[in-house]
Amino acid sequence: MQLVRSVSQAKKIIASIKKRGMKIGLVPTMGYLHEGHLSLVRIARKKCDFLVVSVFVNPTQFGPEEDFRKYPRDLKRDLRLLKLEGVDLVFYPSVSQMYPDGFRTYVEVVEWSRLLCGASRPIHFRGVTTVVLKFFNIVQPDIAVFGSKDFQQAVIIKKMVKELNLNVRIVTGRIVRESDGLAMSSRNKYLSEKERKNAAVLYQSLKSVKRAYKKGLRKPRPAVEMMAKMIEQKGGGIDYIQTVDKDTLEPVKKLKKGTLIAVAVFFGRTRLIDNILL
Ligand code: PAJ
Repeated sequence: MQLVRSVSQAKKIIASIKKRGMKIGLVPTMGYLHEGHLSLVRIARKKCDFLVVSVFVNPTQFGPEEDFRKYPRDLKRDLRLLKLEGVDLVFYPSVSQMYPDGFRTYVEVVEWSRLLCGASRPIHFRGVTTVVLKFFNIVQPDIAVFGSKDFQQAVIIKKMVKELNLNVRIVTGRIVRESDGLAMSSRNKYLSEKERKNAAVLYQSLKSVKRAYKKGLRKPRPAVEMMAKMIEQKGGGIDYIQTVDKDTLEPVKKLKKGTLIAVAVFFGRTRLIDNILL
């Protein structure tokens, strides 16, 4: 497994891999890896000949008041885990490699970048699409794998790929959860013991709505109210609970197959997201 820190070195290696006709896979991450990330690495490993994982805490997707500086990092451990998964190349650039002084170019899936998480994190998705497009250009993957935990992110990236005619197939992996149902996240580490326990309500509330839907509930409003009540009882501060179409992210008038229930909640200062598909 090679560890590469510079863009030019990565491009050189990729050029020689391309020449040999090998199929390239990419899993972009911000590191501090858990089973959620590794599940994506395993999906990608099966679908390509040369597997690249990027580890980069991307400053452009963090707001000025957000956790860029204190975002957890542990490269040594990440490298050990990635080696065990048979990764070929880890791309671990510095901020100045990705964003040299005077950097001015951004790509944005307008409007969709302001829905759901974008309402409270207005520059977040612009940062995500910009860095992911840069990774696509450097690594030139045939396939790239993203997790459904960040459902909006995957939808926005697919939209960018389609509209900018990129030659990469986007594959999505399912959400990996802890034994009590909490979706794995590098940010779970911020939670106090009590918050961590209470945070299990996120998935419980999503499952309750799904059960109610199966029993005939079709109105979004009572579904959202039911979730809000459960979450608030556990001390969660709701950023949003929304019922949207899984492809367009537009609010639905009626719950149906293909409706995405998406939620963002604060436990203390930690913002967690989760979702379920009907
Ligand atoms: P990060 O939060 O590190 O997540 C990297 C990938 O792992 C994303 O595709 C995310 O959806 C997926 N993932 C995270 N938790 C998961 C879980 N519990 N189950 C399944 N997949 C999970 O998402 C980012 O980094 C960044 O925005 C990035 C795309 C790397 C751009 O900077």
